[in-house]
Amino acid sequence: MYKNVHPRLGQILMANDHGYTFSSWTSFIEESQIRALLKYKVHYYFAGGKPGIIPTEIFGQIMQDIGAQYKEDPKLALEDLNYGPTGGQPWFLKTLAKRLCDVRSIPIDCETDWENVSITNGSQQALYALLDTMIDPGDVIITPSPAYLGFLVPAVKLGARVITVPTDLDGMIPEYVEKAVYASKRKFGKIPDLVYVVSDSDNPKGTTLPQNRRQAIFDICESHNMLLIEDAAYAEIQFKKTPKAIKTLDKDNNRVAYLGTTSKEAAVLRVGYSVLPAHVRDQVLKDKGYLDLCTATLVQRILDEYYKNYIDEAMKTAIPLYQARCEAMTKAMDASFPEGERTDPTGGFFIWWRSAKENFNSSNFMQDVAIPNDLLYVPGGPFYPIVGHRLTEDGTDLVPSRIEENTMRLGFSYRDPEIISEGIEKLGKLLTDHLG
Ligand SMILES: Cc1ncc(COP(=O)(O)O)c(C=O)c1O
Repeated sequence: MYKNVHPRLGQILMANDHGYTFSSWTSFIEESQIRALLKYKVHYYFAGGKPGIIPTEIFGQIMQDIGAQYKEDPKLALEDLNYGPTGGQPWFLKTLAKRLCDVRSIPIDCETDWENVSITNGSQQALYALLDTMIDPGDVIITPSPAYLGFLVPAVKLGARVITVPTDLDGMIPEYVEKAVYASKRKFGKIPDLVYVVSDSDNPKGTTLPQNRRQAIFDICESHNMLLIEDAAYAEIQFKKTPKAIKTLDKDNNRVAYLGTTSKEAAVLRVGYSVLPAHVRDQVLKDKGYLDLCTATLVQRILDEYYKNYIDEAMKTAIPLYQARCEAMTKAMDASFPEGERTDPTGGFFIWWRSAKENFNSSNFMQDVAIPNDLLYVPGGPFYPIVGHRLTEDGTDLVPSRIEENTMRLGFSYRDPEIISEGIEKLGKLLTDHLG
């Protein structure tokens, strides 16, 4: 039945010209709009969350050292170039557990609890596998509005009912999370299963949750028995002091699925790491086992060296450089953008801008004006679910979700400060001309 009927999109016929049929999701899920933007090669690139500062020399050195080690020890090479455990190599999990204890105060004993850490192919795979193991069609999820499309789209694909709750310059507003729980109970007859949040330097808004909001969101999840997914993709890329992870409140490792990624703080080797409640981890790893069997051991070997010996040095270099890029962007926006509101990141890769003109369409503007002027950003649209529900302003009802077209995500991670200043000034002028 479900094969042909999406829970909220209704009957979808899937026969194609060749006579065979695709599964239903293929007809309502499009290619990621951020992936689609990759085809544009522009000078002023403020689109995807590509790290622009990668310690390439360090990785060159590590790979050289590993090559030498393999020459000396063919048995090690044979093991490393082979299939490995689905959840990651124990030696790498131990290294990550140590960093999570020492630097992020995650409440696991790194000597004894390292098995609480799991490896996935990017944290994207962890997000997907978590949704895959937690969500049946019709189940309910709470996310901020807007939210990371890499979470929203798979959630919709799997048939979740997504409730988006209002955010401000400090991120998701806990009072609305609580109201969304009651609204879900009234409208759908059930409590949501999951709450999703990026606590440090959110994607797309670049906001960071203050301590009191972290505590409040954790407490709400506790009191309604919901799993909280804390996506900490940007936790290491922080140039201002930020509160500790929500996961630090989860002393029994029972409430919070904590996701990290090597992509932003190391290199894009497609390795994510997570600390999941044990019963959740078992299901997620079962799923991963069918998705990819295991993550390549070679990349774990490379990253193990990096996390053991180089990350502090690399972060010491990278963080001020990212900060300079962020400051170049905020300064140029403040000097040149027309009336609107921007976020003020503590770290991460993104700034979110909302035009004061409600009828501004940033997607059309990008196609018609920005791209011809060698500029690329991500229009706000993809960060709202294609089908979903949003809380009304008074928090009492759920209405169909709505795309806020007058918004855009600007990424400062990839280009040098000079190019950012130049490009943002140019964008500001074009926006001012367009919006009057
Ligand atoms: C908030 C957030 N979560 C998860 C991911 C996925 O990261 P990866 O799969 O590279 O680990 C990203 C990537 O941009 C992200 O911004």
